[in-house]
Amino acid sequence: MNIDTTKDAAKLEVNGKTLVMDTIRGVENEQAINSLNLRKETGYINLDPGYGNTGSCVSGVTFLDGEKGVIHHRGYELKELAANCNFLEVAYLLMNGELPNTAEYKQWNSQISENSYLGPSLQILLNHYPSRSHPMSVLASVVLSLNGFYGDLGEERFYQLDMDVVRLIAKTPLIAAHDYRRKRGMQYIPSDPTLGYAENFLHSMFGVNLSPERRKIMADSLEKLLIIHADHEQNCSTSTVRMISSSDANVYAAIGGGIGALWGPLHGGANEAVIKMLEYIQMHDGDLASVIKRAKDKNDPFKLMGFGHRVYKTYDPRATIAKSVVDDLLEKLGVDEPLVDTAMELEKIALEDDYFVSRNLYPNVDFYTGIAYKAMGIPKEMFTVMFTMGRMAGWLAHLLEFREDEHRRICRPRQIYAGSPMRDFVPLDKR
Ligand code: SDX
Repeated sequence: MNIDTTKDAAKLEVNGKTLVMDTIRGVENEQAINSLNLRKETGYINLDPGYGNTGSCVSGVTFLDGEKGVIHHRGYELKELAANCNFLEVAYLLMNGELPNTAEYKQWNSQISENSYLGPSLQILLNHYPSRSHPMSVLASVVLSLNGFYGDLGEERFYQLDMDVVRLIAKTPLIAAHDYRRKRGMQYIPSDPTLGYAENFLHSMFGVNLSPERRKIMADSLEKLLIIHADHEQNCSTSTVRMISSSDANVYAAIGGGIGALWGPLHGGANEAVIKMLEYIQMHDGDLASVIKRAKDKNDPFKLMGFGHRVYKTYDPRATIAKSVVDDLLEKLGVDEPLVDTAMELEKIALEDDYFVSRNLYPNVDFYTGIAYKAMGIPKEMFTVMFTMGRMAGWLAHLLEFREDEHRRICRPRQIYAGSPMRDFVPLDKR
């Protein structure tokens, strides 16, 4: 990978010892200290809860500039990709490093299409989850179970991996769609190979209840939303996928873990929490002030959902794209969604409030996306599933990259122990 190493460029004086370390500069000039020998040479570890100052790898998939609000995938700016590609093209780019040419796209698209089905036993398995199960729990467990259907088929290792990638991209939308339908007593709808990726998901989910005209409008918006969710370098869920992959666990195990991490309301679960927050405001006569007050109250665990980001210290560029998708979608569907006004009002008040401005808290990718999903008739509890459908491409891209990484080793952080010092054992009858 294209990185520059500067020998002995960093010095650490600790406990009378001097450790000289190399520094590394990335393609976009971000820099790191290579602390590979820190513990061996000094006996010290670096303690960084939440890893805000710690790089876990060198990666070529995505670059983020949090200060400038810039994101590019394999060198292509996200807004360019969102404006000119469909999701499968971007998924191909993330995983292969280049945008597909016509022949490559045709083959990739037919691979996905050929695998866009849920066999009878997979449908039976899905139908047996409690109908009250959260869609993310169903998705995570069904993805893990795919190893039972497709794992260790004796296929040559890399063919197996390629096919695991295809199956996950192809089947995730169908698992989500059928989970929605079976909970409402509706039958499985087979894919329509004449439809694009996003449109086929809407077809599998809503069937004849959605007119082809409205489905096409929604699909155009959904393709863009899947693209802006596709990858975001070493976020919590992607790092989880890498962590699980580092033990040589199978693809489905790694992706199942990534789904679990994304589900959290501080991460991908925020889009569901944003809509609940906006609806709460609406139900309380637009009482924005109490929400802002609670978000600023250190004694209140409530956070302003859809606001703030570990990396972006300015407006999340994906939130800008999401807002334009929402405006375009609502206009084309002829939907008047008052939550948009509530969201914009909340954003305006927060961005005039020193608490948020001084902490660089701006809208993130989750702030507007739920409004688009709501307009499509997708239930709140499926919003993070929509995030998962997009992020599947990024997780797989990082998993493939990690598998090829010459420096790959099992991820195993250290710690500082703060428990009881060593003590003698006391038998039960003496305690
Ligand atoms: C995603 O990493 C990624 O790239 C994630 C993601 C992706 O594509 O994978 O971009 C997707 O997860 C977006 C984020 C979605 N989550 C939310 O919208 C939940 C609300 N946001 C916060 O929980 C928070 O902003 C995080 C979790 C997103 C970031 O947390 P950090 O980096 O640990 O920030 P922090 O807690 O260090 O915050 C710094 C200060 C603190 O106050 P002080 O201690 O300085 O007084 O800002 C405050 C925080 O209390 N703060 C907030 C806040 N976010 C941070 N206060 C109120 N509301 C918020 N939303």
